[in-house]
Amino acid sequence: MTDRPYEIDVLISAKVIAARIEELAREIEARFEDTDKLVVVGLLRGSFMFIADLLRELNLPVEVDFLEASSYGNEMTSSREVRILKDLRGEIGGRDVLVVEDIVDTGFTLSHVLSLLKSRDPKRLETIALLDKPVRREVDISATWTGFEIPDHFVVGYGIDYAQRNRNLPYIGAVRFT
Ligand code: PRP
Repeated sequence: MTDRPYEIDVLISAKVIAARIEELAREIEARFEDTDKLVVVGLLRGSFMFIADLLRELNLPVEVDFLEASSYGNEMTSSREVRILKDLRGEIGGRDVLVVEDIVDTGFTLSHVLSLLKSRDPKRLETIALLDKPVRREVDISATWTGFEIPDHFVVGYGIDYAQRNRNLPYIGAVRFT
């Protein structure tokens, strides 16, 4: 499949992403205006570009941490096993936490990560996803803030890969096989 030739159409431009991030940052600032320090947790690898731009726009005292999860499909049970490949460096008990995700698809990853983080008793736990594909959802979950709802396109860029390529595109593109 990775050998199939394809082209990438711009779905969401860098300019539109930047404008939406400004709006989202204002909403996050309002929600956490009384925080001593917000722990912003990026889910690796796809969120690295989004978290970098969001943090530069966010006028709050922050601490940055990362978590890496990986999910494997199980065709027998149509369920998913989510494994933590890299855990947080810091403690989040009693802290304000914002989880930053690039995309919510089936919802398995976010749901698993949120259960894990909730078990550590944060004071407040909110989530932001740049993209949301509600038509693909299998777990009833949604992020507190969503950048863009998109149809079931195969997307790349702005951190998101296709076979580990295209993460460095400054925009969100849709893959079109040629
Ligand atoms: C992708 C994406 C989300 C997750 C969403 O991660 O970054 O974390 O899948 O899918 P879900 O809602 O169906 O669980 P991936 O496992 O491809 O890793 P990556 O971020 O390192 O590319």
